[in-house]
Amino acid sequence: MSKLNDEIFKKAMGKFPSGVVIVTTITPNGEKCGFTASAFTSLSLDPPLILVCLANSADCYNNFVTGEKFAVNVIGHQQHELAFKFATKGVDKFDGDEFEDGDSGLPIISNCILSLECNMKNTFEGGDHEILVGEVQHAKLNEGTPSIWYEGSFRDISSKT
Ligand SMILES: Cc1cc2nc3c(=O)[nH]c(=O)nc-3n(C[C@H](O)[C@H](O)[C@H](O)COP(=O)(O)O)c2cc1C
Repeated sequence: MSKLNDEIFKKAMGKFPSGVVIVTTITPNGEKCGFTASAFTSLSLDPPLILVCLANSADCYNNFVTGEKFAVNVIGHQQHELAFKFATKGVDKFDGDEFEDGDSGLPIISNCILSLECNMKNTFEGGDHEILVGEVQHAKLNEGTPSIWYEGSFRDISSKT
């Protein structure tokens, strides 16, 4: 067993395959922002809750934690480049034509696997991240092949057993 440090912890967490989502919101003055996340999971069925974890260091941190709504977009293999863009600080993340307005007026990604539009239910401190709990208001499901993030890179699902 190795003694835990940051590097080993990151490597260890990379052993857990996850989906990748792009989380988006719009501020009351119309500014759109978002970030890529793998720390996403469903939380409750009744009420329908999900959670996503946002680093305290994110430029978009204040816009999310003070916001009332956010959308979670599960990406497929066509959206790898977009996921890297949303993981890059200081770029114009909404300059492409990949977006549409969701039922709640949130910016969502057209043709991703799933978009969930949520009301912010709670936020909780979680170390150097904030846990955003959303109550799902609308779900838009699309066909497509989801992407898996494993050991620091994207993998496609190749078979079904
Ligand atoms: C595959 C992948 C998964 C990520 N997962 C998370 C995550 O779960 N939470 C998080 O806060 N940042 C995560 N990041 C990093 C953020 O997307 C990145 O730091 C982003 O630029 C933060 O937003 P900002 O540009 O507003 O600072 C991830 C990045 C990648 C490429």
